[in-house]
Amino acid sequence: MYLALGTAALGRPLYINIRHVQHDFSMESFTQNAQSVLDEAYRLGIRHFDTAPGYGLAEKLLIDWLQTKNDDSITVSTKWGYTYVADFNPNAKTHEVKEHSLSKLNEQWQDSKALLPYLSVYQIHSATLESNVLQNRTILERLAFLKRRYAIGIGITTTGVNQTEVIKKALDVEVDGNQLFDSFQCTYNMLDQSISKVLKDLKNQQKVLLVKEALANGRLLPNSKLKQYQSQYKELNFLATKYNVGVDAIALQYCHAKLNVDWVLSGATNSAHLRQNLKTLEVELNEEELANLDTFKIDPKDYWNERKQLQWN
Ligand SMILES: NC(=O)c1ccc[n+]([C@@H]2O[C@H](COP(=O)([O-])OP(=O)(O)OC[C@H]3O[C@@H](n4cnc5c(N)ncnc54)[C@H](OP(=O)(O)O)[C@@H]3O)[C@@H](O)[C@H]2O)c1
Repeated sequence: MYLALGTAALGRPLYINIRHVQHDFSMESFTQNAQSVLDEAYRLGIRHFDTAPGYGLAEKLLIDWLQTKNDDSITVSTKWGYTYVADFNPNAKTHEVKEHSLSKLNEQWQDSKALLPYLSVYQIHSATLESNVLQNRTILERLAFLKRRYAIGIGITTTGVNQTEVIKKALDVEVDGNQLFDSFQCTYNMLDQSISKVLKDLKNQQKVLLVKEALANGRLLPNSKLKQYQSQYKELNFLATKYNVGVDAIALQYCHAKLNVDWVLSGATNSAHLRQNLKTLEVELNEEELANLDTFKIDPKDYWNERKQLQWN
């Protein structure tokens, strides 16, 4: 099963996407929804869950939910480096604050370690060249210590135009003569295919690869407002009809077929969408179809500029 569940939008009421809905927020129903999506994911066979302290309640909900499980086939990835600050306020101006410091790592590890023994990967949340986190020896040594002490993988997540540069830099990071990073969670979809340039390196070095934002935050789902993608939507609708699934299932399968990744994250926030995402397992795109979808690629600069314009909804 290559589909895994991402919990970014399950733990906080607003998240970056193309939806424009009025929120009538109640903590009780919000929490119940998150728990029921976790239950449904498990019932449907999903066994990997991705979370972060920066995702509001998500990590805590996952920790509590895991207490009800006794299944060593479950694995979890979490992250450190972002703090959720919106306090579930739909009108909040700032949702999260980034801090790649040793004190933030130590503070967030205190909570995240409750994910053990399910925790398989501990990631730097959005490692960038600017934050210099990949050169901070104190942090790298602390991560190497956690890796040895708790037998977990250490990873990074990447975002933005220079994902490939960040991945290459991370592959070179060593502590005591050993490569530090085992796992890479990156944005990849038909519009931003840039990480395919480093795929060979990741595979040759047997790294775990997780794809995030496989639906381009919802931009790949047919939408009359995104005029620039109407011809792409036509092709996606054609394939969806052919395989008797939704466009989401086609987009998720594309990522798996192109990269043969360990996990493709579903960002679904309700069970109906999750079930539709899972139909990806029924699809096998042929070479010609994959080649057609390859042509959807846009300049990463345009891709990330467009993402910056998306609202927290
Ligand atoms: N820097 C990082 O480390 C980082 C950054 C981004 C994401 N992530 C991880 O990747 C996961 C997935 O990312 P994502 O959620 O941003 O990206 P995504 O999968 O590209 O997009 C999710 C969007 O697609 C919509 N969707 C999914 N299935 C649908 C369906 N069948 N019909 C209609 N809409 C559908 C969702 O709507 P609904 O909400 O209505 O279901 C949501 O708005 C996150 O949960 C997180 O774990 C990590």
